[in-house]
Amino acid sequence: MKSDTIALCRADLFRVNVGTQQQITDLISEILQVKTNNPDGNARSNNECWRYTNPCKDIDWLMQYLLSLLDEAIYFYDTHDKIFNNRLKKKSVQIEYWANVNEPGSRNTIHAHKLSQFSAVYYLQASGTGMLKFSNPANTMSDCNASSPFTADVAINPVEGDLILWPSWMPHEVETNFSNRQRINLAFDIKVKE
Ligand SMILES: [Fe+2]
Repeated sequence: MKSDTIALCRADLFRVNVGTQQQITDLISEILQVKTNNPDGNARSNNECWRYTNPCKDIDWLMQYLLSLLDEAIYFYDTHDKIFNNRLKKKSVQIEYWANVNEPGSRNTIHAHKLSQFSAVYYLQASGTGMLKFSNPANTMSDCNASSPFTADVAINPVEGDLILWPSWMPHEVETNFSNRQRINLAFDIKVKE
């Protein structure tokens, strides 16, 4: 017997490691300088997490990698979701980004980025600073049998240079930074318009 399969839901993430050590070091310096000049940052959503929109003068090289990763994701989802495919026939891309500096001991509680189609993060100072954990929305409502497919949380252990992209509706959190270093990254919200 051969049955038809129809994708009901996919939430694959895309991960690549990019940037030279010099590019990463330069971005960290730039972000920490902005933090020194603007210690309050933007309105905070998590304790001990400094946040600031558009902190960098020139990240064209990183945006090129991000757009490539986005193309890969759109191609992937095009093949699995006909409605998504039809919506994005004439696409333009709008990207908002901000820096996060999480002090040791801090964490980012579970949330989703409801207004975008895709979200991404670029890790500048990462190793040992907390896992990036994704949860099936059914799990967050305790609304599933734990033995059902794709109900396990997926935790990513990021390293410096990791650029990770996922569908924005996917609930995620960043676990406690148990290291003695700041967790430093750039976060992106991506709107793909018709
Ligand atoms: Fe997030």
